[in-house]
Amino acid sequence: MNQAIDPASLIHWPTDSAIRRAAAALAAGDLVGVPTETVYGLAADATRDDAVSKIYQAKGRPSTNPLIVHAADATAARRYTSLFAGDRRNAGSDPTLIDQWKIASAFWPGPLTVVVPRSSSIPDIVTAGRDTVAIRVPDHPVMRKLLKQCPFPLAAPSANVSNYVSPTIARHVADGLGQSVAMVLDGGRCDWGVESTIIQLDADGPRLLRPGGITAEQLRSVFGRIDVPDQLGDHTQVQVAPGQLPTHYSPDKSLVFVDRYETLLSDPSFQATQRIGRIAFSRLDDAQRSQFDQVWIVDETGDLRRIASRLFAVLREADQSDCDLLVIDRCEEIGIGRAIMDRLRRATRSVDQTQ
Ligand code: TXA
Ligand code: MG
Repeated sequence: MNQAIDPASLIHWPTDSAIRRAAAALAAGDLVGVPTETVYGLAADATRDDAVSKIYQAKGRPSTNPLIVHAADATAARRYTSLFAGDRRNAGSDPTLIDQWKIASAFWPGPLTVVVPRSSSIPDIVTAGRDTVAIRVPDHPVMRKLLKQCPFPLAAPSANVSNYVSPTIARHVADGLGQSVAMVLDGGRCDWGVESTIIQLDADGPRLLRPGGITAEQLRSVFGRIDVPDQLGDHTQVQVAPGQLPTHYSPDKSLVFVDRYETLLSDPSFQATQRIGRIAFSRLDDAQRSQFDQVWIVDETGDLRRIASRLFAVLREADQSDCDLLVIDRCEEIGIGRAIMDRLRRATRSVDQTQ
């Protein structure tokens, strides 16, 4: 962490000419840190193997974990799937998939990614050799302008070192990947703060692969039904996005849910000398605060949308504190709460497995 970046390469609210420079860097095969409404991305020209391979290398990401392709608008997005007539791989698409595409694309620009049959314009390295590609149209003014400047789509995973917490401000990108990018476009704090919802279109109806800002409730209301595996957290049982590994998004420090911590306290082998940090989703009273060495209140009012937008920044901050163990709340699994708990289950998993 904390690799140096030349401050000149971190461009605060870039002008049109700075965005043109970023497009030129991408056209030359370089990587650029980009803001989106969900989390910051690490972007490359999705049509170039050499550029895309730099993403895997910079993140330390396994080449088996495919990337999301970002398009400027829904019309451009159609070019990256074989669903529509005119694509070389099109072999008479299932009309139900085209109907689902139309419904899904009404959420664009926005935090929804669709997994669909891929077009031949997308190279194997982006899809990790799969027949499907993940596509989304992001909703951030800087990213949209950049995409309009680029005559190619952008492959962009979250701009964190593989398995670490996703970045929600430009500084996070510079801290983790500063050495690998030509520049980072700083478009302020990400509005949603958790990665996009991913659905896979299927003849039997869409399947939720990763919960995010577009909620299961919203998807159900437009699709009539959506297949939501009971246990998105249990990745041995269900088919999920390949990157949704059991342990993921985790800080370096041990992180446990507050109920688990209470049982730890009664364990005689628990070291009382540890410095304990508490990450709470609403206000704590003085008696509760006094049990911890440091306290972070993610949102005083317990608002799930605000908790999502601040969560990753707080996790990073707590990870840099001198606490030995971090204790975090659970939240209700409705709306965006499902995405919050999905990420936290993965972030706490490694500790639960070893203790
Ligand atoms: O909000 C977001 O989606 C952010 C911003 C930057 O757009 N991107 C992001 O990318 O979260 P990444 O790479 O961190 O997560 C993408 C997920 C991974 O779990 C990957 O396995 C899955 O999407 N994925 C990509 N292509 C897929 C495919 N063809 N089938 C199933 N899952 C796929
Ligand atoms: Mg990621």
